[in-house]
Amino acid sequence: MTSDIDISKKNAGYFAAELIQDGMAVGLGTGSTVFYAMERLSERISSEGLDMIGVPTSFQASMRAREYGIPLSVIDEYPSLDIAIDGADKIDSSLRMIKGRGAAQTLERCVADAADLFVVVADESKMCEKLHGPVPVEVLPFALGLFERRIRELGGIPSIRLGVKKDGPVITDSGNFEVDCDFGFIDEPELLQSAINNMPGVLSCGLFTEFTDRTKVVIGNENGVNIF
Ligand code: A5P
Repeated sequence: MTSDIDISKKNAGYFAAELIQDGMAVGLGTGSTVFYAMERLSERISSEGLDMIGVPTSFQASMRAREYGIPLSVIDEYPSLDIAIDGADKIDSSLRMIKGRGAAQTLERCVADAADLFVVVADESKMCEKLHGPVPVEVLPFALGLFERRIRELGGIPSIRLGVKKDGPVITDSGNFEVDCDFGFIDEPELLQSAINNMPGVLSCGLFTEFTDRTKVVIGNENGVNIF
């Protein structure tokens, strides 16, 4: 039985996939909603001969793209991307977002930065008035203790992400820890993002506020999509 959420995610992902044109280099984000976009891209490659190249943002995205027959490359070969398609965990009305539930926000930020257009696909549950809840942060293992101290000094509650089918902490695709930092409701996301990203040992935090001028948000529902 397909849930309404799955239908919504599929509508959003399929809409995003239709934006891709022949010859495009496309960032491929991580997460379940982007996978619907990959599914539709796979269909288009098979049925229309769509000519595209994908730059994945995680092992998970790479593996899924290969399953779908999407040609892949790396950002060294494609430092300028036409479109990046990605998901999000929270999106506010200013198109600022929290990402990183899948611990891929560091590579996702690189791909989003390389893209002319950042297309974020999500279901309605991701929209919120004010960003709130845990902000994922990728941290060098060496710096963990200092990072936790600095987050507490900033008023946050750090919680290292532990594995579900693995004992001990989650290890990111780049070999680091993922720490979920809860600040409750976030009044000034830009300032918090800058403060966290400037902490020693931080690779990247999940606050994405710098791309709003080239972001298209595609919110799926059971009947179609709304674009912001
Ligand atoms: C990966 O680290 C995240 O940024 C995902 O893009 C985000 O969690 C959205 O995932 P879903 O589309 O599965 O909700």
